[in-house]
Amino acid sequence: MIIAIDGPAASGKGTLAKRLAAYYGYRHLDTGVMYRAVAHVMLTAGLDLNDEVKAAEIAIRLDTRTFADPALKSQAVGSAASVVSALPKVREALVRFQREFAASPPGAVLDGRDIGTVICPDAEVKIYVVADPRIRAHRRTLEARGRGEAADEDAVLADILARDERDQKRSIAPLKQAPDAYLLDNSHLDIEGGVRAAIDIVEAVRAGRQRV
Ligand code: DC
Repeated sequence: MIIAIDGPAASGKGTLAKRLAAYYGYRHLDTGVMYRAVAHVMLTAGLDLNDEVKAAEIAIRLDTRTFADPALKSQAVGSAASVVSALPKVREALVRFQREFAASPPGAVLDGRDIGTVICPDAEVKIYVVADPRIRAHRRTLEARGRGEAADEDAVLADILARDERDQKRSIAPLKQAPDAYLLDNSHLDIEGGVRAAIDIVEAVRAGRQRV
């Protein structure tokens, strides 16, 4: 089974996807980390984030071992990832890896922006996670401070809103809810509550399919 988790920045979809994968014994791929890894190499090398040829070269040669680098989690890298992810050749370079990951047994949970719409349109379960932008900004600020980064909540909110707009308005694979995705608003849920709600969705879909 393939479970697609999409949603805007800092919606909590990453933690939710990881926990769902552990619960079902599936593999998990955080696709955002791939765009972050490309952006990080571009930033470190001082390259123009809109240089599509260079960014695509980096994406093609991406080393999965770099995905665990804590530097990828920063706000700056997240914003830069949003810029490079709008470049068609970068997306093209990453699609195949993501689809192959999804197709390998025993099952997979992928989280990102375009999993249910572009990468795995036939995923058995699609969940679109949202949360109030102010609540996302508050959670992201606490996370950043926990990592020792200085973070101003208003600046984090502005970054989140700019990122939402860029991710939703780009011409290729924009962030949007797939018509057959379940909406999960976790504004007022803690992590456990969000995981429980997601499992309930998966179980409801499974039960529905068994009845057919
Ligand atoms: O989920 P995240 O914050 O790690 O994602 C960082 C950026 O990467 C996000 O702002 C847009 C881009 N992204 C994307 O375009 N498509 C995906 N499937 C995942 C992330």
